[in-house]
Amino acid sequence: MSEEASKGLEGVVAGSTAICTVGREGRDLRYRGYSIKDMPLGTRYEEIAALLLTGELPDRRALEKFNAELAGRREIPRAIAAALESLPASAHPMDVLRTGASLLGCFFPDPADQPLDAPLRALATLPDMLLIWHAHHAGQPWRAPRQAGIAGRYLEGLHGRPPEEEDRAMMDLSLILYAEHEFNASTFAARITTSTISDMYSALCTGIGTLKGKLHGGANEAAMEMLLPYRDAAAAERFITEALKRKERVMGFGHRVYKISDPRSDIIKELARRQAEKHNAMGRFAAFEVVEGILRRDKGLFPNLDFYSALFYHLLGIPIPHYTPLFVLSRVAGWAAHCLEQRADNRLIRPTAIYTGPASRPWVPLEQRR
Ligand SMILES: CC(C)(COP(=O)(O)OP(=O)(O)OC[C@H]1O[C@@H](n2cnc3c(N)ncnc32)[C@H](O)[C@@H]1OP(=O)(O)O)[C@@H](O)C(=O)NCCC(=O)NCCS
Repeated sequence: MSEEASKGLEGVVAGSTAICTVGREGRDLRYRGYSIKDMPLGTRYEEIAALLLTGELPDRRALEKFNAELAGRREIPRAIAAALESLPASAHPMDVLRTGASLLGCFFPDPADQPLDAPLRALATLPDMLLIWHAHHAGQPWRAPRQAGIAGRYLEGLHGRPPEEEDRAMMDLSLILYAEHEFNASTFAARITTSTISDMYSALCTGIGTLKGKLHGGANEAAMEMLLPYRDAAAAERFITEALKRKERVMGFGHRVYKISDPRSDIIKELARRQAEKHNAMGRFAAFEVVEGILRRDKGLFPNLDFYSALFYHLLGIPIPHYTPLFVLSRVAGWAAHCLEQRADNRLIRPTAIYTGPASRPWVPLEQRR
């Protein structure tokens, strides 16, 4: 065993996977061999969820079957809805989703002979669970959305009307970009939980809890909070110049694995630009672009997926605390695919550590301690 640990496990090969590969130099990201760059606007998130969970792109019939499996699991027991409504308005929606995943584990089994049951149930119910809690505290009556897909259901449930087709399609594409990302922190954590022969819902709770932090999924919310006050390039430039002088970490930039660029960023940036045009918000887009330019020039840093997805969701009228939960609604497919892969060839994940504590010391009985 090596004498030196890699801080943050950087560069450590911790296992193998057939689900996804991230281009080491930021050139590509492929889900089961398919590049995200080849997934056109119009692709439904469910196509990609099926690809990740089953290994193959579904044809029309397989997709209909997959959607029917989701629809068959969409109903949320009244007791779960009541438990969600009992959570305070001040709770972070990530905590609501983590609780929702936990409630599913209390009410539904994770049957060994139906490995897709729990992932499908989580995919089908988590968006509605978030919105049930949201509607309750907004004083709105909860009406289950009529849209079939997760992107459309979320937008309809949030805004109380079916989304425009173009917005729905863009939302689908944004969810696709969030669906899977190899051995990122939350996926690795979920695989560890699975490796102890725990159940799928517990692994999803692990994933949600790990994603919440702003060094991981929480970066999209933090990026929008940071730039919310700035609606034009000049104001954003003044702000970011001062922030860099104070050596602040800028959320939505940098990546542990990508070293040149994040291949998802160009795609989400284009969606954000189209929304900005549509909503007459090119000043806000320019504010984001100027921050990107300065970070590139002064720090050699590039935006990751979270930077422009923050602007994209903002322009779609989505409340900031929902940005990381949207990441969850999508990443459930990636997490579950990894948990199933872990189960198929399991060995307990249990690394070792280099001990840095005191050398051995004689035991002191309680009455002699000072
Ligand atoms: C993603 C992230 C956690 C990767 O971290 P990492 O691989 O551990 O890199 P480090 O934290 O060791 O940073 C390496 C150097 O780059 C700098 N750096 C990295 N990301 C930075 C950022 N977003 N803003 C400012 N400086 C940054 C660090 O200050 C450090 O500089 P130093 O060596 O002079 O101290 C990090 O880039 C980050 O904190 N980004 C912001 C959060 C974010 O957007 N997360 C979403 C990721 S998809």
